[in-house]
Amino acid sequence: MDKQVSTLKKSYEPSKEVKKHSIVKDYEKVYLESINNRENFWAGEAKKLDWYRKWDKVLDDSKHPFYEWFTGGKINIIHNALDRHQKNATRNKLAIIWEGEPGDVRTFSYHALNREVSKFANILRSMGAKPGEVITIYMPQIPEIIIAMLACAKIGAIHSVVYGGFSVEALAERIEDANSRILITADGGFRRGKATSLKNIANEAMKRSPTIEVCITVKRTGEECYMENDRDFWYHDLMSMPLACTNCYTEHTDAEDPLFILYTSGTTGKPKGLVHTHGGYSVYTASTFRYVFDIKPEDRFWCAADPGWITGHSYMVYGPLINGATIMMYEGAPNHPYPNRWWQMIEKYGINILYTSPTAIRGLMRFGSSWADRHNLSSLRLLGSVGEPINPEAWKWYYEVIGKGRCPIMDTWWQTETGGHMITPLPSMTLKPGSAAKPFFGIEAAVVDDAGKEVKAGEEGTLVIKAPWPGMARTILGDPDRYVEKYWEKYSKQKWYLAGDSARKDEDGYYWIIGRIDDVIKVSGYRLGSAEIESALVSHPAVTEAAAIGLPDELRGNIIHATVILRQGFEPGDKLAEDLKSHVEKEIGPIARPSFLVFAESLPKTRSGKIMRRVLKARALGQETGDLSTLEE
Ligand code: PRX
Repeated sequence: MDKQVSTLKKSYEPSKEVKKHSIVKDYEKVYLESINNRENFWAGEAKKLDWYRKWDKVLDDSKHPFYEWFTGGKINIIHNALDRHQKNATRNKLAIIWEGEPGDVRTFSYHALNREVSKFANILRSMGAKPGEVITIYMPQIPEIIIAMLACAKIGAIHSVVYGGFSVEALAERIEDANSRILITADGGFRRGKATSLKNIANEAMKRSPTIEVCITVKRTGEECYMENDRDFWYHDLMSMPLACTNCYTEHTDAEDPLFILYTSGTTGKPKGLVHTHGGYSVYTASTFRYVFDIKPEDRFWCAADPGWITGHSYMVYGPLINGATIMMYEGAPNHPYPNRWWQMIEKYGINILYTSPTAIRGLMRFGSSWADRHNLSSLRLLGSVGEPINPEAWKWYYEVIGKGRCPIMDTWWQTETGGHMITPLPSMTLKPGSAAKPFFGIEAAVVDDAGKEVKAGEEGTLVIKAPWPGMARTILGDPDRYVEKYWEKYSKQKWYLAGDSARKDEDGYYWIIGRIDDVIKVSGYRLGSAEIESALVSHPAVTEAAAIGLPDELRGNIIHATVILRQGFEPGDKLAEDLKSHVEKEIGPIARPSFLVFAESLPKTRSGKIMRRVLKARALGQETGDLSTLEE
């Protein structure tokens, strides 16, 4: 073990310094007020934003579970993230500091960002983009991904960002589900010293889902790629045309108009396109960002997520920009060319807040403390964690080696569905390593049994949210029934939201998230569905049936274990196993590549034909298989 890391304490008090600078000094008091008069609390938060027209009603709960927030209000998130900042000193402030993996640097003031977004919004309009249409974005971590997202929002179009690490089938499926006509991509990006070839993947995907009529490509790597006449355009060509002017009207969207859809994995093969809105999402991300990170005008905030995930949407783009904050963005791998890359950038840019995942922390911890120690990290004052439970070792290392025992760690629990932080500490709170602490203002959580009865303190149960909040996803695109069934059916009598996680609440009211209770697998904090991996395997000519499970892994949280049944005429073997793993990688992306793949004659199934993944998991871990009474074979 690392010398510098001492024994982990059960709890950590905030320093006087941290307390002094905290926006909220007394969490319990504000929390109680927010719960006792929820709508009042959210109205107060909404008033901090600029509205074209004030709302008539804070919450319309008449169509449970299809809640509506700030109904009658008119607001565009861009009006708050960009337009309003042009009238004051924020205009001259840095909005984005970006560093490419090869070391190139670009910065954008709020003025410059607004200019680029306006220009690109005009381009999109000239391509016939209309309010309410879904535009797909498939890009690496370059500033243009943010420009593209903001430009869509500005004209009232709905963006659907597909993570740049996803591959052909994942992209094609998402384009098709959203019936997208416009795709924005790049030739590639840099990762571990190599150029990725996104446009080639995009070309393949466009062959599979022919809805795309216009594809705009940013030139990043200069790699050669096929461009089709009348369909493909270079971003830089369009941006230098006279129609890309800086004068651009921001669409006056309704509070409930969709801002974006974001696909996430669920229990069935098809990914769910969760819908978030202009009004509620603006209020929720602005508010959680401000309180949880105690943001100050002089701060430089680094959310080291990818904009292609909800963390990137909420805390790399929208939450910070609405608050007029300066964000850091980095294109590549944390250990390229050496494992000090992140620490070097924190020193170079004077980053004050770092928000990342336990997997990233564990990955860097592996290289030892000396890489961090050679850098001056004294600008840091707050740390954040998200995406999976943080284990004590990683917490300790993050707190002591990176934060030098000065920086509180905000372990934030939330989901693509929730839009923003749900259970999280605030900087002024006592921290318990491994616990996401307490519900955010206005959020009523509970740990319950199947009947909905609260379990005793310290016991494991199902995590539910008892009342709506502004940042909640409104529905699943094109599948409202699935939205109801997945999140609201289990506790329909009580009208509670089912989060899909199990948790414990201790005697002090602190929440300890345990993990998913469904067939969602968290690999390195990325969310994948067993069924998605299984359908990728079955799409290979050699496979007739497959089952995928997650197995615990020290570094990545979980890794994928796949069991396959071969079609007649195919022989099991190492070569085929490798081919199948690569096939999954090609269809979904490198994150979905199974670490283990075994061949079997049959799969354990219930009499109704459902794969009993729990049996496979127990077997893979060498444990007892438990009750097999429902097993068919
Ligand atoms: O299982 C929980 C885990 O991530 C799931 C949500 O995944 P996703 O929609 O991809 O969003 C991730 C980023 C918000 C949750 O159901 N999770 C997220 N944050 C934490 C966590 N598990 C434990 N501790 C957390 N802080």
